[in-house]
Amino acid sequence: MVDDWWGGRAMAAMLPRLFIDHFAQTSYVVEDADGRLAGFAVAFLSPDDVQTVYVHFIGVDPALRGSGLGRELYARVAREAKAAGRSRIAAVTSPVNTTSLAFHAALGFEIGPVVPDYDGPGEDRVPMTWTLR
Ligand SMILES: CC(C)(COP(=O)(O)OP(=O)(O)OC[C@H]1O[C@@H](n2cnc3c(N)ncnc32)[C@H](O)[C@@H]1OP(=O)(O)O)[C@@H](O)C(=O)NCCC(=O)NCCS
Repeated sequence: MVDDWWGGRAMAAMLPRLFIDHFAQTSYVVEDADGRLAGFAVAFLSPDDVQTVYVHFIGVDPALRGSGLGRELYARVAREAKAAGRSRIAAVTSPVNTTSLAFHAALGFEIGPVVPDYDGPGEDRVPMTWTLR
């Protein structure tokens, strides 16, 4: 569902199985009453930046958006980050993903600026950081 949930963008290759096999302790899945996937967040404790939890992917079923599930997923990540002694959450998004930018801004993330060629030639990205209190 990743490409579908990301509006048809080719994103699935950025979420290979290794994230599920090796980062499940810090990742979350929400199912509806019938066991269907409603949303998920894939995150991990940065080994290099020991103050940071990095959120690699967060997604909510398009039919369930706008009801607070994304915010709740981040609240869970934030709780676990604090419990692990981390003081910030970092994520990176594409400048074209205006939904992601608005969502992260609404949650209190510091947004940007855009870093040209962040992920290679022409692959600009926007770093986003949430300082936990
Ligand atoms: C981004 C995404 C996870 C948000 O999930 P959601 O469950 O709809 O978000 P919530 O309902 O919890 O909204 C939380 C806040 O973000 C804001 N927000 C969410 N989507 C928004 C949008 N499209 N435009 C403006 N603000 C938005 C909400 O207004 C809300 O703020 P508020 O509580 O102050 O009103 C969801 O749209 C999604 O899965 N998008 C596709 C995948 C993606 O781009 N993921 C992020 C990059 S990895």
